[in-house]
Amino acid sequence: MSLFFRRKKQSDAVTVPQHIAIIMDGNGRWAKRRGLPRTAGHSAGASTFKTIARYCNKIGVKYLTVYAFSTENWKRPKAEVDGIMNILRDYLLDTDSFKGENIRLHFIGDTSVLSDELKDLIAKSEQDSADATGLWVNIALNYGGRDEILHAVRAIARDACDGKVNIDSLTEQDISDAMFTAGMPDPDLIIRPGGEHRISNYLIWQSAYAEYWFTDRLWPDFKTDDIDAAIESYSHRDRRFGNAK
Ligand code: FPP
Repeated sequence: MSLFFRRKKQSDAVTVPQHIAIIMDGNGRWAKRRGLPRTAGHSAGASTFKTIARYCNKIGVKYLTVYAFSTENWKRPKAEVDGIMNILRDYLLDTDSFKGENIRLHFIGDTSVLSDELKDLIAKSEQDSADATGLWVNIALNYGGRDEILHAVRAIARDACDGKVNIDSLTEQDISDAMFTAGMPDPDLIIRPGGEHRISNYLIWQSAYAEYWFTDRLWPDFKTDDIDAAIESYSHRDRRFGNAK
């Protein structure tokens, strides 16, 4: 039995975050250590993603946002970029992996530049899973936090020029509403495997009060026990949102 369910049984307080975001790092190193191409690491990472999404659904997490491809990842060799896009395509074709799991899929990022096939699959997966009542999964694809803010600023500026918005009465909520994550709660917990301690342009507006949890474990080796450990640590955090103790 996982630590999470053991703790729950003992009625020991465990606070399950409403929204977990993950930077799925370490796939390349995982593959290299095995003498495999980097794409094999991303395939293994996709398999970890499915296990972790299923587990988050089971323990009552409401939103899971994963970083699949950043606006900077286009700089990688074409074979690796194509490999990641093919892995995503295969995932979206295997509709049981989300429909059968009562998982709602949503993509964040600028997907307009993707292939027509991928754009169609994304639209179909979002439509087909729209009635799911379980976990809401956001896949960040061609996503960058600064790029997202730029999109929001452009949209708001356009509305201001059209006289639909009064600039002086703009609120933080208006900006949140212009983000790809409009209508969703901000992430409570951001998990980064792979040993690096940085945010890498991920959810930079939404993470203002997020808690972080890091591990050296590479993403393909990441297990449900690591989610338990992250939630355990999160449960002991004193989130004050700027208030006094
Ligand atoms: C970062 O590790 C990982 C990526 C840039 C790609 C992540 C994509 C997947 C796991 C596939 C997603 C698929 C689905 C279905 C959501 P890295 O390559 O930078 O690792 P390294 O730091 O060890 O080189």
